[in-house]
Amino acid sequence: MTHFDVVVLGAGAAGMYCAMRAGQRGRRVLLIDHAEEAGKKILISGGGRCNFTNTGCVPERFLSANPHFARSALSRHTQHDFIALVQKHRIAFHEKTLGQLFCDGPARQVVAMLLAECGAAGVELRLGTRVTGITRADRFNISTDRGGVTAESLVLATGGLSIPKMGATGFAHDVARRFGLPLVAPRPGLVPLMFAGEDLELMRPLAGVALPTVARCGRGTFAEAMLFTHRGLSGPAILQASSYWREGEPILLDLLPGRDATAELLAAKRARPKAESRTILSEMLPQRLAQVMAETQLPPRIMGEVGDAPLKALGTLLKGWQLMPAGTEGYAKAEVTLGGVATDALSQQTMAAKAVPGLFVIGEAVDVTGWLGGYNFQWAWSSGWAAGEAA
Ligand code: FDA
Repeated sequence: MTHFDVVVLGAGAAGMYCAMRAGQRGRRVLLIDHAEEAGKKILISGGGRCNFTNTGCVPERFLSANPHFARSALSRHTQHDFIALVQKHRIAFHEKTLGQLFCDGPARQVVAMLLAECGAAGVELRLGTRVTGITRADRFNISTDRGGVTAESLVLATGGLSIPKMGATGFAHDVARRFGLPLVAPRPGLVPLMFAGEDLELMRPLAGVALPTVARCGRGTFAEAMLFTHRGLSGPAILQASSYWREGEPILLDLLPGRDATAELLAAKRARPKAESRTILSEMLPQRLAQVMAETQLPPRIMGEVGDAPLKALGTLLKGWQLMPAGTEGYAKAEVTLGGVATDALSQQTMAAKAVPGLFVIGEAVDVTGWLGGYNFQWAWSSGWAAGEAA
């Protein structure tokens, strides 16, 4: 049975970063993954260009039962530290929007960088390896289908439940639970919302229509684009709001951000009384949406014949369209998993389990979830670094 100082389970973003840092400290590190390839989510992230961090990364852009928990790790290894590493590896990148940094080239460069750093730090990598059992006496005993190893420290970095067809599992949650760590119930985040009944009937013909919006849900307010789909709504504003959505709660949409819809409609009626209402609306909204709004919300008349009351009602609707989602598209489409190992059970400085010496949990497996836009990778790097410094 080979002994390691640190065994990291999960060669994703957090696991590779943690293994790298622990190796750099001179620890003997084994990194295990059941997949045949490391960092598969990094490869598909950001549309293949990996939105690897955000220049505006602040703790307020993360969701957790304890909103202060992420502060320590995020401040000890920041977006600027990660950017410096990317620059050291001469990976070209650009800011797309809202502080989001993407590779100019393929996301594979980020995985290659992490593997090179792990290699330089002497990390042993075992891919295609299934963990079959974990016990703990004075050290951790990890059985795999390729033999057993022992370790002083064990890091759970197997991620969340999102995209099961890519090998996502509840492994970290299960192991944490077996060691007595509490969980915050996991649920899909950054996920398209589904609608039913009349709402869906209205949305379905609009599939493909995109427009700027302000989406509000609970404490989340996001001014970004939204997209109608065959099942309901998606696009960045909706994905962001979905992380704040709870079953039975409405979502509120402003379809004309920064504009006074009622004043514009009334002014158009006075200025162009002979114009058709859908013509006026199509100057304010994408054409297909304008047509649907005109058909469903206004009498089929020219503007001069439409009463002020329906125009005011439509103005109010466009600024605050309240909709009741029927559900989300679930883990199959969710970019992240909200919830996970409860932060109460972990040290915010090191990510170590308070009650189980030597056990660490990092990355998406923990109840810390970032906004869309590079925040989730930054959490993986920062929490991985924190554990890598201590394991
Ligand atoms: P991650 O999922 O990366 O890694 C977990 C690893 O554990 C995997 O390698 C998996 O194979 C392995 N594993 C799982 N179960 C195991 C088991 N039982 N035994 C052994 N190994 C096991 N974020 C962002 O900031 N910018 C972006 O551009 C994107 N884009 C994006 C696109 C898509 C389509 C998705 C689904 C997600 C994103 N994300 C993102 C989110 C980001 O990918 C995610 O938050 C991080 O990858 C989480 O890093 P972890 O290391 O915690 O888990």
